[in-house]
Amino acid sequence: MPRRPPKKPDPALDLSAHLLALARLPVPLDPATLFPTNAPIELEVGSGKGLFLDTASAARPDRNFLGAELAAGYARLCAARLARRAAPNARMIQGDATWLVRGLLPDACLAAIHVYFPDPWWKARHRKRRVLSATFLEHAGRVLPAGGELHVWTDVEEYFRESLDFARATGLFSEPVSLETRPAEHDLDYHTHFERRTRLAGAPVWRALLARNDRPASVSRMSSPESKGE
Ligand SMILES: C[S@@+](CC[C@H](N)C(=O)[O-])C[C@H]1O[C@@H](n2cnc3c(N)ncnc32)[C@H](O)[C@@H]1O
Repeated sequence: MPRRPPKKPDPALDLSAHLLALARLPVPLDPATLFPTNAPIELEVGSGKGLFLDTASAARPDRNFLGAELAAGYARLCAARLARRAAPNARMIQGDATWLVRGLLPDACLAAIHVYFPDPWWKARHRKRRVLSATFLEHAGRVLPAGGELHVWTDVEEYFRESLDFARATGLFSEPVSLETRPAEHDLDYHTHFERRTRLAGAPVWRALLARNDRPASVSRMSSPESKGE
């Protein structure tokens, strides 16, 4: 989908504490080592311009937030938002979030995973690029402990239903709870930039919260992107 290039952050801003390259992270990665304080860790997959990561980490200082974003420009933009307020509890990883979850993160290391408005990849030959695949959802179940939360919001009903079907097939999640929303109180009173855009256009948003149950995961951390990890 066409996107305006992200605005460049101030080059004088030091991003070194907030922007991490996936390719330079240790494997496996204990995500707790990325933060100065020990706290439950929430991962956002595909942070875009970083509205959720910034507002959630400011609102919840008792939690650590990790964003993962493929596009280098957006990852820098998110990191800049965090660096500007020296956020101690938020970090941005530039790279493929699906590989982070499948290949780097150990079992039961996250308290929540947030996936907001993932790219729908409409063309059949691009479908395999969808973040919410059957394999990703198996690994989402692996990295979440019992009671951990998976949040999925999208404006694409077909993608929403497919994702819930994949999640159900893992046997690792409770039945999804759908969430209602409230009117925005100001121009940036939205969960993410894409939620803002969708609601301002008057289009529906599909939202679900799935809780991890206590069944053991049936996959192991993958050793290479091609491996099955089972
Ligand atoms: C449609 S945008 C939504 C951004 C944001 N979540 C929002 O709701 O405003 C999807 C974002 O996911 C990112 N993305 C796509 N595939 C990804 C992947 N495998 N790993 C990390 N980010 C990814 C894209 O670069 C893009 O910024």
